[in-house]
Amino acid sequence: MTAYDAGVAIEFSARIRRIPSYPVAGGYELPDNVALLASNESPYPPLPQVVEAAARVLKGVNRYPDPSYAKLRRALSDRYEVAPARIAIGNGSCDILLAAGEALLEPGAEFVYAWPSFSVYPHLEAASGARGIRVPLDAEERHDLEAMLTEITVATRLVIVCNPNNPTSTALPIEEIAAFVERVPRHVCVVLDEAYCEFSTLDDPDASIDLLRRHANLVLLRTFSKVYALCGLRVGFALCGSDELVRAVDQVRQPFFCNAAAQAAAVEALRHQDAIVERVERAVVARIDVEDGLRALGIRPADSQANFCWFDLPRRDDEGPAEREAAVVAGLTDRGILVRAGGALGKPGALRVTYGTPEENVRFLEALGAVL
Ligand SMILES: Cc1ncc(COP(=O)(O)O)c(C=O)c1O
Repeated sequence: MTAYDAGVAIEFSARIRRIPSYPVAGGYELPDNVALLASNESPYPPLPQVVEAAARVLKGVNRYPDPSYAKLRRALSDRYEVAPARIAIGNGSCDILLAAGEALLEPGAEFVYAWPSFSVYPHLEAASGARGIRVPLDAEERHDLEAMLTEITVATRLVIVCNPNNPTSTALPIEEIAAFVERVPRHVCVVLDEAYCEFSTLDDPDASIDLLRRHANLVLLRTFSKVYALCGLRVGFALCGSDELVRAVDQVRQPFFCNAAAQAAAVEALRHQDAIVERVERAVVARIDVEDGLRALGIRPADSQANFCWFDLPRRDDEGPAEREAAVVAGLTDRGILVRAGGALGKPGALRVTYGTPEENVRFLEALGAVL
């Protein structure tokens, strides 16, 4: 048998067999009128000035991008009042998350996170061989911080709190987060994943930044993918309590991980905070409209502080949660609406639906009513 014969199996590492595949959303080769409500993206395009800033740098892409990310770090530092040396940049915030896992975790180490939460977290334990400890959410589908604290041991290296939480959309107030961080031992890195923090009306999204002054082990993970509407360019950042994690995540990654167009677009996007306020306002209006519509269908959604909602489908005696979820997702897809099934996100029988434009939200509610 030659190496070219079909069926020759490459022998992969044990690590690769452990790593779960990310549940990829569909919808990339569908007609234009499909409502893409599956990936918590902004339904609104980036500002023309932001697109122009990205386009301007394209004529210089025979050169590598700035590997120190100096302009972007400076712009973030000015916006968030955190020293540039304490800001990590990433090819999306996921890139920083995975690099943090690589830098902190190894066999014998422990890592505590809530479940259901962001589907990339299990990847960190699988990739590193560390023991992942999943702490169930409370009855309101929020993080149970008390229970998470009891899981911290001398072996714990990393704790992640996703606030607001993906996929459940719920958030905890800053006082509870502050009290939690206070009680985590200093050797443990606390990542507060704030991908959706701008959409929360519980607190000022900048409130957590004050905590960085007191906690060198705290990392606020943020992204340009959601409210800044730049997920297609892949750029995220982390505001850190010290420069230690910034150096560590840079050590484990290739240089030039954030491309020139992404850096330029992000710098420009930061100049337009008024657009952020407007996108947040639209998301809050969508939240109210969609929640009202869901309640009218007899559904009680989780208390959303994000740009998406999460709810259990009404039960039926003749179908289990997984079949019910599959039937509803298929019915919505047939009607041109793409959403996320809860099973792949940790809870069969639930749905996660991103708020779209007002028209898309109406279409979604009508389609859901028809399918149910
Ligand atoms: C909770 C959470 N964190 C991080 C990310 C990663 O975002 P990105 O890599 O696009 O910055 C996402 C994306 O959906 C998310 O939901």
